Amino acid sequence: MIPKEIIEEIRYRSDIEEVIGSYVTLKRAGSNRNGLCPFHSEKTPSFTVFPATKSFYCFGCGAGGDVITFTQKIENLDYVAALELLATRAGITIPNEPSAGGTPTVSRKRIYEMNLEAARFFRSSLFDPVLGREAMTYLVENRRLSGATIKRFGLGFAPNDFSMLTTHMRRAGFSEEELIQGFLSKRSQRGTLFDLFRNRIMFPVIDTAGNIVAFGGRVMDDSKPKYLNSADTPGFKKSRILFGLNYAKDHCAEELILCEGYMDTIAMQAAGFQNAVATLGTAITQEHARLISRYTKRVIINYDSDEAGQKAADKAMLLLDEVGLPVRVLKLTGAKDADEFIKRFGNDAFYSLLKNSNSAFDFKMEKVLAKYDLGAAEGKLRAARELTALIAATHSSVERELYLRAAAERLGISAESLGNDVARARARQAREARKKESRELQLSARNFGDRVNPDAAKEPATAAAEDVLLGLCLAFPEHRKACATGEVNVTAEDFYTGFGKRAFVALTEAENSADGFSFSALGAIFTPDEMGRLVKLQREREMLQNNGREVLLLAVEALHTQRRTREAKATGDWQGELAMRRAQMKKKNDSK
Ligand code: GTP
Ligand code: MN
Repeated sequence: MIPKEIIEEIRYRSDIEEVIGSYVTLKRAGSNRNGLCPFHSEKTPSFTVFPATKSFYCFGCGAGGDVITFTQKIENLDYVAALELLATRAGITIPNEPSAGGTPTVSRKRIYEMNLEAARFFRSSLFDPVLGREAMTYLVENRRLSGATIKRFGLGFAPNDFSMLTTHMRRAGFSEEELIQGFLSKRSQRGTLFDLFRNRIMFPVIDTAGNIVAFGGRVMDDSKPKYLNSADTPGFKKSRILFGLNYAKDHCAEELILCEGYMDTIAMQAAGFQNAVATLGTAITQEHARLISRYTKRVIINYDSDEAGQKAADKAMLLLDEVGLPVRVLKLTGAKDADEFIKRFGNDAFYSLLKNSNSAFDFKMEKVLAKYDLGAAEGKLRAARELTALIAATHSSVERELYLRAAAERLGISAESLGNDVARARARQAREARKKESRELQLSARNFGDRVNPDAAKEPATAAAEDVLLGLCLAFPEHRKACATGEVNVTAEDFYTGFGKRAFVALTEAENSADGFSFSALGAIFTPDEMGRLVKLQREREMLQNNGREVLLLAVEALHTQRRTREAKATGDWQGELAMRRAQMKKKNDSK
């Protein structure tokens, strides 16, 4: 466990407004800040940061907590990993201490050290005249990479051997557990470790801070799988990283080129298009789209010309549009992908392709038009209907105007009548979007409640009294103290719901502990969703006028009454059941 004073230090030095502000655009709202919630999709901001209490809460979806909970949720980390990330950000060193029981999670920092050492090993294998001969020939002759490019991207080679890397890493001081968690080695059935990457060209994946966070390994022939990528480790999450962004970040302020793979990115950057990046063997995610929107103003999608590539392009357009980025799509002809295209036709041809790349709309319009027979009235009508929907879904009015004219021209109908249809479709879409949003909100709020405190539905009155008591204890130290010392007569047994009981125990135990109560330390015990609930209870209390001792006592009294009722009912039921059984037995005996 990380010592409590370090946790408090991390929380104190991690300005919640600044940390959240680096992911969410926040606007001033009185003494608070609000913005669009990153945890559910919404168009009106219900996500609020409270600098005074160093907490956040989303009135839409119920997400909430402190800066640590936020980091856990947005980076998809556990409590300790989130603390480590914030500590690094704030320049605080967490003392190393093995955790009791279970295998401790290897820190990010250690994973990065391990990957750096492994990358050095892969590189020297590639440059070794014997060991790396075939691999070097493949890169230089088959893939046409220059020595400078190979070095710039830190490419390497994993030898065709089961133990060379593991042995090297063990000598360099990395433990078996670390190698396994870092996705470099695996334990065999015999119990020994073996290398996971064998006989593969190695592509280090480097984040924008310069850490090697993962590897991709490619075979040199047609065997399968073609690429092997590191699984997500404590230092790496595939859905949040873009290959090549470490270099592209300085060249993509205006425009970014999104490719499908490692080799495309490398070929593009080597050919001078230094704003190229790729996702790692997965389709683009919402997280990628958000990340991209922090670095650039426009995106060119450069995916393979095959069907899979075009499908992926559709999805990318959708996600990038959601974060408000204008998108254009590159149409490659005469080559499967950008790497091949550049090799075959040269940089200049690729450059003119880039300049003439279609807007996402043109791309989609061509697809629609190709589907129908525009000579027939029926086909024209259907095409117009589809294009109307497409144009209506475009956010910017300037773009809508441009598309309208283009579509009208292609269809041979007046822009005015098409414009009327678009206006109607927009009104309908807006209505549907509003409906959908409120439906989703209700749904998520309900599910959320069930997930955190599933027992509440069974005894709503008791749960409500529990909420009042917990809210008072969270918001007011004097109430917490009164409950923890026994000055007010309430115990864990008075609680009915599992969550309420756990929360009460955690609060009073923290209050009675040597270092006292700390909200942030609760993150070690409660999930981010549960932390959200605690913040909600606290906020709801703080918004009310009357929070005195009498309210606390009323809640306690309600808990006592309900407990007695519950217990009476339990005994009652039990006696009733016994009587019934007796009657049944008697009947059986009588009939004999
Ligand atoms: P080359 O064939 O070397 O030119 O690579 P490429 O990048 O053009 O590969 P391709 O278009 O086949 O795949 C695009 C990306 O998908 C790759 O860069 C990988 O990130 C990923 N990928 C391809 N094959 C596999 C696979 O077998 N497993 C995994 N996990 N990812 C793959
Ligand atoms: Mn390729």
